[in-house]
Amino acid sequence: MCWTMIDVIAETINLHKMKYFILFGPPGAGKGTQASAMVEKYNLHHISTGALLRKEIAAGTELGLKAKSLIDAGALVPDEIVEGMIESEFKTVKGVNGFLLDGFPRTTAQAEVLDQMLAKTSESVTAVVSIMIPDEMIKERIRHRATIEGRADDAKEETINNRILTYHEKTEPLVDYYTKAGRYNEINGTGTIDEVRENIFALMDTL
Ligand code: AP5
Ligand code: MG
Repeated sequence: MCWTMIDVIAETINLHKMKYFILFGPPGAGKGTQASAMVEKYNLHHISTGALLRKEIAAGTELGLKAKSLIDAGALVPDEIVEGMIESEFKTVKGVNGFLLDGFPRTTAQAEVLDQMLAKTSESVTAVVSIMIPDEMIKERIRHRATIEGRADDAKEETINNRILTYHEKTEPLVDYYTKAGRYNEINGTGTIDEVRENIFALMDTL
């Protein structure tokens, strides 16, 4: 029997449980920076809702048009939009050990929907890897990135401040949500990129 057939059978009887890692942290914490090494080492598929939304904006789609003004204001886009994006990636991507969710969930409602999505196939969130940095460092990092990447939501001080506020108000409550679920793991994100990566790998190796 060929391996492809074995894979199909294993998937059908659910032997290959997918892993679902959430890469959590405030804006500019280093989620995107660390994601590439993580997906490579652990054979994961990276889903950045922010990157998917920026793609829609660049393509000028209806969804992109709706999202643009909210992103530029430092606010969140409606939960249903990002939930739909996540579900479609889960359904279409195969051949990986799991998924690395970067920037999702970002509200308690999104976290609950994610739990429900995974429960349909008797799965659940494997672990949250949270990269933490203080607010002042968020600003420094984003100001620095603005000179390199030219992201529209990095351009204005007001947008950056709103993103930080939105994070504290809407997203930070998830720390409690996932701590209660026994899934929360925190990494100090203030070191060098290499130091943070090594700490993430040391944690991931235990999960
Ligand atoms: P999103 O794209 O997710 O942005 P974010 O959460 O604000 O996070 P960033 O991408 O800004 O930061 P990062 O942690 O990836 O940092 P990076 O690695 O680049 O979302 C954008 C918008 O989309 C949201 O505001 C919202 O409107 C919308 N959206 C997205 N998801 C949504 C959802 N689920 N629900 C509703 N709306 C949603 O690093 C930053 C900089 O620091 C880089 O220059 C990097 O080189 C540098 N750096 C990284 N690590 C280090 C280090 N250790 N030392 C020194 N420099 C470092
Ligand atoms: Mg990012």
